[in-house]
Amino acid sequence: MDMLNVNGEHVNELLQAQAHVWNHIFNFINSMSLKCAIDLGIPDIIQNHGKPMTLTELVAALPTINTSKACSIYRLMRILVHSGFFAHQKLDKNGEEEGYVLTNASRLLLKGYPFSVTPFLKAMLDPILTKPWHFLGTWFQNDDPTPFDTAHGKTFWDYGGHDPKLCNFFNEAMASDARLVTSVLIDKCKGAFKGLKSLVDVGGGTGTIAKAIAEAFPHLECTVFDLPHVVAGLEGRGNLKYVGGDMFDAVPASDAVLLKWILHDWTDEECLTILKRCKEAISSHDKVRGKVIIIDMVLIENQKANDQATIETQLFFDMLMMVLVTGRERKEEEWAKLFYAAGFSDYKITPILGLRSLIEVYP
Ligand SMILES: C[S@@+](CC[C@H](N)C(=O)[O-])C[C@H]1O[C@@H](n2cnc3c(N)ncnc32)[C@H](O)[C@@H]1O
Repeated sequence: MDMLNVNGEHVNELLQAQAHVWNHIFNFINSMSLKCAIDLGIPDIIQNHGKPMTLTELVAALPTINTSKACSIYRLMRILVHSGFFAHQKLDKNGEEEGYVLTNASRLLLKGYPFSVTPFLKAMLDPILTKPWHFLGTWFQNDDPTPFDTAHGKTFWDYGGHDPKLCNFFNEAMASDARLVTSVLIDKCKGAFKGLKSLVDVGGGTGTIAKAIAEAFPHLECTVFDLPHVVAGLEGRGNLKYVGGDMFDAVPASDAVLLKWILHDWTDEECLTILKRCKEAISSHDKVRGKVIIIDMVLIENQKANDQATIETQLFFDMLMMVLVTGRERKEEEWAKLFYAAGFSDYKITPILGLRSLIEVYP
């Protein structure tokens, strides 16, 4: 009941507003609680237990836990049950006792799982990548290209070039995502590779995608193209090879170019240069229509109520691109503008990869 007034404002509305603000102040607690569960290896411990795991069993299985902290594990698990990473399940049909089980989300965080999102979580929540968020306000008032530059004095890519730790955990994060995307691509988007004789994965990292594509399509010559320090020491074999270079200078010639999670790292101007280099690289001849295959987000514009979580996650990624690099996430019309400005004539968007889409762009 809105009976009371404080300075003319309804008390209930004030309290609701306060709750909303509190919820947003503490949003990071969801991320940090999840990171802690991963640091302690909790999803793997529950998985290895093979049946619902009681709190006592969980605490006993955490060998490095200081015994005085054991009861706090309950509180950590309580918030992670609330956020959907674990669930309670009865130990047996008739019994009262309950244990923790994994959910689909925590299964995705198991260490040995080929599609594990754990390397991505560890990279994104490492202090090197979270520190720039404290400089966002400062960055709006200075000349630095990104808050990452403000926090660390160099670009994200330069930092990775000089710090093997960042380079390794970032590449591992990309590779784990690449494994998931590739299996969807090979399963559902075979048509996109039909007729191609060669493909270059520009910014292909350590080659996770190209390796899988090369295996799935033995007649396709695949090249991983990335910065020299990323591909240094990597050796291809069979129909896979590694080439070091700078995509702003030139891209190896090929029937098709793959750009996965590349263009969202860069400004429109930078994307135009990359797309032009790609257009110069692709060949169209009698049997093959050359193309650029992009895997990136297309921002959802239609604010449907049931899409709220998806929209928020896309906006998180857009902010992430602003904070770490010079990039952005784009709406369809923004993509189209880029493609036409780079001299391409047509494109096709297939929204087949969850929050991301497969975009085929034709000269
Ligand atoms: C966000 S990662 C994406 C990696 C990979 N495509 C994937 O999705 O798993 C961006 C990649 O672009 C590479 N990169 C950055 N600048 C580059 C440049 N100038 N020329 C070639 N590759 C570059 C980085 O080294 C990194 O591997």
